[in-house]
Amino acid sequence: MNKIEQIKKESIDEFGSRWTQERYAEIARRGFWESEEKLVSQYFKPETKILDIGCGSGRTAIALTQKGFDVIGVDITPKMIDSAKKIASSKNLNIDYRVGDATSLEFPDNYFAGAIFANNGWVQIPGKENRKKALAEIHRTMKPGGYFILVAHQRYYTGNYLFFWLIQWIKLYLLKPLGFKVKEVDFGDLFFKRPYSEGGTRRKQFIHLTSQKEVESQIKNAGFKIEMRKRMSELSSKDAEGMEASLSKSFNSFKSPIFYVCKK
Ligand SMILES: C[S@@+](CC[C@H](N)C(=O)[O-])C[C@H]1O[C@@H](n2cnc3c(N)ncnc32)[C@H](O)[C@@H]1O
Repeated sequence: MNKIEQIKKESIDEFGSRWTQERYAEIARRGFWESEEKLVSQYFKPETKILDIGCGSGRTAIALTQKGFDVIGVDITPKMIDSAKKIASSKNLNIDYRVGDATSLEFPDNYFAGAIFANNGWVQIPGKENRKKALAEIHRTMKPGGYFILVAHQRYYTGNYLFFWLIQWIKLYLLKPLGFKVKEVDFGDLFFKRPYSEGGTRRKQFIHLTSQKEVESQIKNAGFKIEMRKRMSELSSKDAEGMEASLSKSFNSFKSPIFYVCKK
């Protein structure tokens, strides 16, 4: 198994862990973020077919269904889909949930009127080529003129992070070519600590913190036009404050991710 496959396997395993499953069962009840609701109302045509990719336990799939959209929710973590199905049935909602990988979607071309990859799921795909493939697949399965809502945490160089990224640069570009083992694949990869332990060690989850330039060039290369780009804080101060409060203090570079509305 190569390094990217290994990270993917560990990420699915962590998303399926008991702690994370319990947390996401609670998250599913929260509904749209205010920022998402604004964009969904503005860009998705009522009652159309929407792909919710990286749907997790169904937070946005439920909210979209309740708003009258015909939703298919896809997630790579089988336990997320099991949980999403249970939560939907407890609410008497009939939502089409499937286990699947964003990098290789099972749907025909021009199938969805819109798509959403909510809550930074796209930046949790390891490997630059895989993130590009996911965007290309979403583009392929969407109808021309449709909108895709994407949100991505950005990389910051403030405070302790300047030092952190400097060390990572040394690891990736100086030590790795010399034969040292380095877990990160791309510059910006991070393994953040979850607040629970297993076997005496804190569990970690993968995320790739991007630069705005990187995301935008990948969106365009996939064939989309960027219709709108806004920080979460510009769309909703309530969401931005909530996100900051929910993140670990040592990890404040997660502040205010950027929303992109991409048009096919
Ligand atoms: C941060 S969670 C967000 C879940 C949900 N969208 C929400 O807002 O509550 C990211 C989700 O993306 C899923 N994911 C990661 N890589 C994926 C991939 N390649 N294809 C499909 N889903 C993926 C994970 O399993 C996880 O459920």
